[in-house]
Amino acid sequence: MRVREPDRLALFGGPRTLRREPAELFRWPIVTRKDEQAVLGVLRRGAMSGTDVTKSFEAEFAAWLGRRHALGYPNGTEAIRAALWACGVGAGDEVICPSMTYWAAAAPALSLGAAVHFADIDPDTLCIDPRDIEHRIGPRTRAIIVVHYAGYPCEMDAILGVARRHGVRVIEDLSHAHGSRYRGRKCGSLGDIAAASLMSGKSLPAGEAGMMATDDRLLFERCVAYGHYERTGGPSRFNPPDNQITDPELARYAGIPIGGYKHRMNQTCAAMGRVQLEGFERRAAEIRRAMNRFWDRLEGLPGIRAHRPAPGTGSSMGGWYYPHGLYRAEELGGLSCARFCEAVRAEGVSGCFPGANEALHLHPLFHTGDLFRQGKATMIAFGQRDVRQGPGSLPVCEAVEEICFSVPWFKRYHPRGIERYADAFRKAVEGHRQLLDRGEAEAPR
Ligand SMILES: Cc1ncc(COP(=O)(O)O)c(C=O)c1O
Repeated sequence: MRVREPDRLALFGGPRTLRREPAELFRWPIVTRKDEQAVLGVLRRGAMSGTDVTKSFEAEFAAWLGRRHALGYPNGTEAIRAALWACGVGAGDEVICPSMTYWAAAAPALSLGAAVHFADIDPDTLCIDPRDIEHRIGPRTRAIIVVHYAGYPCEMDAILGVARRHGVRVIEDLSHAHGSRYRGRKCGSLGDIAAASLMSGKSLPAGEAGMMATDDRLLFERCVAYGHYERTGGPSRFNPPDNQITDPELARYAGIPIGGYKHRMNQTCAAMGRVQLEGFERRAAEIRRAMNRFWDRLEGLPGIRAHRPAPGTGSSMGGWYYPHGLYRAEELGGLSCARFCEAVRAEGVSGCFPGANEALHLHPLFHTGDLFRQGKATMIAFGQRDVRQGPGSLPVCEAVEEICFSVPWFKRYHPRGIERYADAFRKAVEGHRQLLDRGEAEAPR
């Protein structure tokens, strides 16, 4: 597609597209009187360490997601750790995880003595590449962790097919994808178990909290036994008798969490989470309308595309957490993504940067980290085969700074404001010749 030559880019002294960034489009989380009253109610009762509000939140979360069980956590990282343990991951085992994601999807496996066998991502979805999983499965592979990255649903049919063939569990990391759908079904209701962050910046914010959800009673009970000691039926001077354990093997440890963790959610967060969940669909619908308006206005331009599923597939973005665009330098004469983003920022868009999360497989923790002080990297300390991978092994993850960029995450639908933002991106695309002619400069991050 031919693009028209625009005015001089702001990077070279032309007029900026946006003179000011309207904070009201981005304010998050949206905290109302209802949140405040709910949190105050917990404070006034002194019920921060109880479980009554959390249990109501769990029931509502499970119903919303369409799962039988949910369990609250102080954060998403702990929900992932518990899910891994519940799925049978232990010392000497392996899990498969995309390398380009937040560390919390992978690092808890090390704390269980397991190795992480990283897989590459698909450059169009930024999620784990389903074609890069099966050949990584070995005799000790216990689980595949999938991350619906930046809200984009993973290719679950293919992933579940591989997992079922090999008897491997699938853990969905839902932290980015509250409300996202895969072929009509909610993300988080597709694998064996789901774990989610509900921290303040997420599209379902509960302060600082996490949630696990599953249909499998045994997985649920293992999570309870692992870190929710007060629900295991043990004697307690501080809590009323409470027992969510029916499995006799787990019941033997009543009163003390098997993992030695204390995974109870602070009830001020549970209270906020309940209110936020109540308003979630309405707010997510407004976000979707805003984000789709932004991308619809840029449709058809060379070099950049929306990171969203195609319409009519039944797959969709939920709350659009951490939204990105896909970048294809070859359509813009080889212009680097960093330089493109620099031009967009000069037009007044402060949040446009190349890349997303850095590839984890190159991080020293997954090469030499020795969590158990054995004088040996935990990745190989328990007799695992060596699945550590060096530079060049996962080329898409390693090129993430060239294939995608962050875009503004609009929370409110204000068409004119949103269009100004889109105009800034359009101007950088249309002005790519100016950028090429003036040569590449390293964009400060
Ligand atoms: C993909 C992913 N997984 C897990 C987590 C961990 O959640 P938390 O920060 O609540 O521990 C995050 C948090 O940002 C995340 O982005």
